[in-house]
Amino acid sequence: MSMFRHDIIIVGGGLAGLRAALAIKGADVAVISRVHPLRSHSVAAQGGINAALGKNDKWEDHAFDTIKGSDYLADQDAVEVLCKDAPARVNEMEQWGTLFSRVGGLIAQRPFGGAGYPRTAYAEDRTGHALLHTMYEQALKNGIKLYEEWLVTRLVANNGRCSGVVGYNIADGRIEGFLARAVIFATGGYGRIYRRSTNSIINTGFGCAVAYRSGVALSDMEFVQFHPTTLYGTNILITEGARGEGGFLKNKLGERFMARYSPHLLDLAPRDIVARAIQTEINEGRGFEGGYVHLELMHIGERNIKERLPGIRQIAMDFANIDPIGEPIPIQPAQHYSMGGIASNKNCETSIAGFYVCGECSCISVHGANRLGGNSLLETIVFGKIAGENAAKFVNKTDFDTADIVEKAVCEESQRILALLGKNEGEAFFKIRDELKVVMDEKVGIFRDKENLKAALDKIRELKTRYLNVYVRNKGAIFNQELVNALELEGMLDIAETICIGAIERKESRGSHFRLDYPERDDSNWLRHTLVTYTTEGARIDYKPVNITIYEPKRREY
Ligand code: FUM
Repeated sequence: MSMFRHDIIIVGGGLAGLRAALAIKGADVAVISRVHPLRSHSVAAQGGINAALGKNDKWEDHAFDTIKGSDYLADQDAVEVLCKDAPARVNEMEQWGTLFSRVGGLIAQRPFGGAGYPRTAYAEDRTGHALLHTMYEQALKNGIKLYEEWLVTRLVANNGRCSGVVGYNIADGRIEGFLARAVIFATGGYGRIYRRSTNSIINTGFGCAVAYRSGVALSDMEFVQFHPTTLYGTNILITEGARGEGGFLKNKLGERFMARYSPHLLDLAPRDIVARAIQTEINEGRGFEGGYVHLELMHIGERNIKERLPGIRQIAMDFANIDPIGEPIPIQPAQHYSMGGIASNKNCETSIAGFYVCGECSCISVHGANRLGGNSLLETIVFGKIAGENAAKFVNKTDFDTADIVEKAVCEESQRILALLGKNEGEAFFKIRDELKVVMDEKVGIFRDKENLKAALDKIRELKTRYLNVYVRNKGAIFNQELVNALELEGMLDIAETICIGAIERKESRGSHFRLDYPERDDSNWLRHTLVTYTTEGARIDYKPVNITIYEPKRREY
């Protein structure tokens, strides 16, 4: 059987995956990506990347803001790594060619939610775009081998160590094995299990699901971030940078309602607080018909909008026929980010030797129960580098596993996919997928309670049963997106189940997880991480302690 063979395989061609590839010296590396790397979701990040670059800013202050923002669930040793390394990584991107916006010749930084200092460096409001293009140029310059348009359907592990992956070539339908001494997953988040989401459609969480089915635990899955400001109707991101530049929120009575929810930080409170505030205004009848409030930018002036926020102006004009220079933008909260993910430590190691993770698919955990805006781009480049370096060290002392282990997995995957293609009747995947998205929006959203969470879990389990009957009408080999979507759906159902299980069990409110029936944070019982592990008998739930170094958990006040 033919097989690809590389010392290190990286799955995911976004910022984290490419940064990992660039960190690998002295080993043969290849990146497998479901899309062309420049179409990875990193490209959509808008407002910026955090680093204590300012004269009066310190990495310790960045760490404190991150930990407080996380509602004290972040592992503080990991946050220290993130914040200490931030200035070096941002300066490196600048030296590699990222055209950051400038003020007085220095990299410009703007205020962001929950930050005690304006430390979010930006390139207008297209920071992810600028960073990803730089990173891709560096990957090309360094001759990184890329396999584009491949869906990795299986992580192959043998006796607790990683042996490679199995990939499905979307362009021609081949199923191939990739033998590797180490594998890094940088596969992104799972926002698209929700209907209202800022995420691109590739963010199905499939990498997390593949790792889960291989026996690696998923951690803190109940913590799903809802971004406060997404364009009403489409849920395209309207950056927090808009409020960082002075924009503010108003309800239909014309009130700047954030004063009620965060008297000190107002519109720049952390995201969990602002999203809940907006949703409360809507739920209590102070939103506009249809469920939205206004984001006003008119007072910050045409010049500032054109110079610093050209991307969201264009989005508002193209998708809502509104020019924010003269009119408010209608916004509502929507799913934005996954704090949970594949359980990992600050070295990006998992429970399988030789299997590393970084970026949004991972839960290291630097974001805890609520991520601060600007820390996700940072996480990709700090922990991408660490994952690459540690995988390179690992392969220096580890040989390849025998090829037959991967061959066997290729045969099993081929049979599984052929069986799906061989079915001529059953249910279409999109019916199940669409019902999943509705139940996640309606019952596992910003406000939760036992009754709704249990109803959601029952529904997800019903959908899992119906999934056994899914068939695909398109039997073709070339760009069979129906097949790809049907394969991913199984993973989406697993991910949704782990979110519900974690959320039902966590009987407290912390960060993005708000239980109407348990509205207080409860450190004595719940200052711990959730772990959900796949077993053939069903999902198993465990817990592990939070690493607390210097910042004792306190009640958050903003
Ligand atoms: O609002 C934003 O620009 C998003 C930033 C982030 O999620 O870090």
